[in-house]
Amino acid sequence: MLTTSVPPPPFSRLPPLPTFPPSISPEPLTPTLAAQKQVAELCLSQHEIAARAEPHRTFPFDRVAHAEFLAGALEKYPWQFQVQDASRPWLVYWAVAGLSALGEELEDVEDWRDGLVATFKPCQNLDGGFGGGYGQLSHLATSYAAVLSLIASEKEECYRMIDTRAMWHYLGRMKQPHGPFTMCAGGEVDVRGAFCALVIISLLGLPLELPQDAPARKSGCDNFLTNLGEWIGKCQTYEGGLGSSPGNEAHGAYTFCGLGSLCIMGTPSKTVKKFLDVDLITKWLSARQYAPEGGMAGRTNKLVDGCYSHWIGGCWPLMDAAMQDESPNSSKRDYWSREGLLRYIFNCCQEDGGGLRDKPGKRADAYHTNYNIAGLSWVQNKYSFSEPKDGEGVASGLAPAHGWDYKPVVDIPGLPDGRVNPHHPVYVIPWTAAAKAQAWFGANRAMAR
Ligand code: FPP
Ligand code: ZN
Repeated sequence: MLTTSVPPPPFSRLPPLPTFPPSISPEPLTPTLAAQKQVAELCLSQHEIAARAEPHRTFPFDRVAHAEFLAGALEKYPWQFQVQDASRPWLVYWAVAGLSALGEELEDVEDWRDGLVATFKPCQNLDGGFGGGYGQLSHLATSYAAVLSLIASEKEECYRMIDTRAMWHYLGRMKQPHGPFTMCAGGEVDVRGAFCALVIISLLGLPLELPQDAPARKSGCDNFLTNLGEWIGKCQTYEGGLGSSPGNEAHGAYTFCGLGSLCIMGTPSKTVKKFLDVDLITKWLSARQYAPEGGMAGRTNKLVDGCYSHWIGGCWPLMDAAMQDESPNSSKRDYWSREGLLRYIFNCCQEDGGGLRDKPGKRADAYHTNYNIAGLSWVQNKYSFSEPKDGEGVASGLAPAHGWDYKPVVDIPGLPDGRVNPHHPVYVIPWTAAAKAQAWFGANRAMAR
């Protein structure tokens, strides 16, 4: 981790965040330390330019240009994008989720909704899952991205094309008796699988009971949640974050998937505390944000990257809900800097002409645009979860989307022109879309088994 020396900040109008280069030692620098130094200096110079030029010390958020960039991601692609064919549902999800967050300014927001059914029909397999494109094997990640995109539309026509019964059977085949899920038939087992499966199960109101044809039943496993919390707990490493599976390096993306899974499995203040060491994960998450950059890195000794505005930044709303029953003061306290992240996103990740990026010097893409915008939602709002009253939960008994609430955070420089529509902290789609889908699937799909 970086240490900082203590000269006074060069810009007295800046809030009390480090504005001077980190001291990185020892000399001579290793290649990774040299890269770290270069990124810190690049970001610092961006912050300095913004502080000289802009009243809020941050470059204005170019909402319209970013919306146009994402709208372009839903257009036809040149042939060079063939290699991205298996990621088609992801490309759609990043564009749709990002556009929804920027929705107010977008004139043709209805247009993309109409294309969703046509896009996902060819990806849908008879086994109930979605592949990356026509003729491709069903996969949990592409099923997750397709279901979220269809649900983000808030259109019944899109809901109706999901074959909930076949999806339930498909997920049943991915469940492993020791707890987790394979990403696809015969594929790798990791915590992404659990998160993707639980997002789909909870949004579609699928039964938690495993279908009779689920192979895990032969080993005495009868429920999607059997052994899952314990397995997720084993993914937490000595550092505090979660790795992809037990024994692997702690990483922001897997940490979000593990925390998100626990926040679907029940009331976060119970499930997260039951299966994870919360002090350790809090320290690890906190150490992922760097000064003077303000952005977040995915793992120890790596560089800041705009996508971790979500994978790490998005863990904070989940942790806030997990810790909200502690002393009133502790739930109000942030162990990260909202201003720092806002400053990184606005000053270092906006590309001229539209789109957001990993870091200065990199090109914008739909993935980084969406997850930087999601980061703005976590910066700009404080989230909480209330246990539903009796009978108010989702059919399956998982934590309902409408149990979450948020309050806008108001005292951050640069906010007035940079607000986005809030995302749901677990489903990472617009606030209303997740609850609306749960209500619709709950009421309309009495599933024949
Ligand atoms: C490392 O990349 C990144 C990973 C190993 C994690 C990828 C996983 C996700 C993005 C999560 C997917 C989530 C779902 C819901 C399916 P790197 O080595 O290039 O990056 P780094 O240097 O920042 O660690
Ligand atoms: Zn990235």
